[in-house]
Amino acid sequence: MKFFVDTADVAEIDDLAATGLVDGVTTNPSLVAKSGRSFVEVVREICGLVDGPVSAEVTALEAEAMVAEGRALADLAANVCVKLPLTFDGLKACRQLRRANIPVNVTLCFSAAQALLAAKAGASFVSPFIGRLDDQGQDGMQLIADISEIYAQYPRLETEVLVASVRHPMHVVEAAKLGADVATLPPSVLRQLIKHPLTDKGLDAFLADWAKTGQSIL
Ligand code: E4P
Repeated sequence: MKFFVDTADVAEIDDLAATGLVDGVTTNPSLVAKSGRSFVEVVREICGLVDGPVSAEVTALEAEAMVAEGRALADLAANVCVKLPLTFDGLKACRQLRRANIPVNVTLCFSAAQALLAAKAGASFVSPFIGRLDDQGQDGMQLIADISEIYAQYPRLETEVLVASVRHPMHVVEAAKLGADVATLPPSVLRQLIKHPLTDKGLDAFLADWAKTGQSIL
C-alpha cells in the first residue's frame, strides 16, 4: 500500500519524507487556505520534496476552465497530479487531461457508482472520502470494499483506489486488508501509525539495562 500525506504544510512533508514512507502528497483548497501560503509556491515546493504524485486541485467548475487550470498546474512540475471534483464537468475534464497524458485524481467520491464513472473517464486515482461518510453514520470502509470488488471485475481499468478522509490508524489497517492501492494520511495519523506504547516501554527498559553495563557502542 502506498502512503500519501494529506497536507499543504511543507515543513511536515519534509520531516515525514525523511522516513522514506511518503509516496506522494494530496492537497485540497481547504488545506492550502490553512497553510496561509500561495498555492503555486506551495505546489512547486512540495513537488521538489517528493518524487511521487502531488495532487493539486482545480477550482473552476466548467470543464474547459478545469482543463485550462489543470494544464497550468501540470506545468508547475513533472509530478503534479491534477485533482478534479467528481462532477459531470469534472469527468469531462478528466477525459481530456488524460488524453494529454496528464495524471488525474478524481476527488470527492462518495459512491461506488461514482468510482466506476471515474475509472471509465480514465482517472489515474479515485478518492473515496471514508471519514466524511463515517461522520454522517454511513460505512466509509464498505465503500472501499465495493469499489475494490467492482474494479477487480475489470482488470483493464487502471484507476488506483486512493483512500481519503482518513481519520485514524484503523482506517489504514482496514483499507490495507481490502488491498486499497493508496491511503492519504493526515500527518498526525502517519505519526500515530508509527507509535505503540509497548515500543516506548520496551525501549525504556532496554536503555535502562544498557546503562547498567557501562558500555558504549562508539
Ligand atoms: C483527499 O485528497 C482530501 O484532501 C482529504 O482526505 C479530505 O479529508 P477530510 O475529510 O479530513 O477533509
